Amino acid sequence: MKRVCIIGISGKLGQYMVEHALARDYDVVGVCRAQSVHKLDRFKDQITIFPGPTDDADIVARAVKGCDGVLVVLVPWGVKGYAAGTAQAVLDGAAPDARLVFSCGWHISLDGQDVYSWRARAFLKIFGWIAKGLRFADIEDQVEACRRIFSSKARWTVVRGSDLEEGPSDGLPVWSHHVGDPILASNMTKRIDFALFMVHALTNDALIHKAPAIVGCATQSARADAGSARPSSE
Ligand SMILES: NC(=O)c1ccc[n+]([C@@H]2O[C@H](COP(=O)([O-])OP(=O)(O)OC[C@H]3O[C@@H](n4cnc5c(N)ncnc54)[C@H](OP(=O)(O)O)[C@@H]3O)[C@@H](O)[C@H]2O)c1
Repeated sequence: MKRVCIIGISGKLGQYMVEHALARDYDVVGVCRAQSVHKLDRFKDQITIFPGPTDDADIVARAVKGCDGVLVVLVPWGVKGYAAGTAQAVLDGAAPDARLVFSCGWHISLDGQDVYSWRARAFLKIFGWIAKGLRFADIEDQVEACRRIFSSKARWTVVRGSDLEEGPSDGLPVWSHHVGDPILASNMTKRIDFALFMVHALTNDALIHKAPAIVGCATQSARADAGSARPSSE
């Protein structure tokens, strides 16, 4: 892996991914909204920024050109298909053999085998209804984005984040194929470690065409599970 593009580079997750990518000596380019470029001032001599909306196919195509890895922050802001547009722009613009790693939440399901608590289902339903009603976000947009990714022939991984918190790194999160697995019960990951997993996935071919649901490696549920054979060792 030599050159990586981070789509949505100016957000919290994006900036952590910049740190991890630079620590690996990758050339880093990224796309973010023009009004957010200033958030990256501390990296300005080390990265190349393509200002613009992350669903702009022309800007994304220019940014991902020559990249062997693309890290994508999928966000369902607004009600005009921003996440689906972002995913499509990356799928169309990236080289066929590029590693594509997308971020989303546990609510996305690859195979319908995830098991959600009634509380999670109720939250998603109510939040989704309010967000769409107020037109600030559309959860279904992220579902559509992932449907397109899952059905593509690209070398993708969709990393499904638990609830997130700030704080120092605990190390690489552990993961499961399915929400509902006891290892995930703590439902908490440091945001810096979510970013670490995204960057780690770029070079882990065992994660191609998988949608790992992650949780912090220092959480109670991860520690309780330690010792048994886990897919996190893949
Ligand atoms: N927050 C959680 O608890 C949680 C839990 C599980 C999974 N995730 C996943 O983690 C990823 C990022 O989450 P995060 O909480 O860490 O957020 P984040 O890194 O701050 O990312 C937010 C992104 O959304 C962009 N954005 C904000 N408002 C926007 C708007 N109105 N139009 C277009 N783009 C806008 C930001 O760009 P600007 O810098 O330009 O504002 C930034 O790239 C997402 O894929 C999310 O699904 C989050």
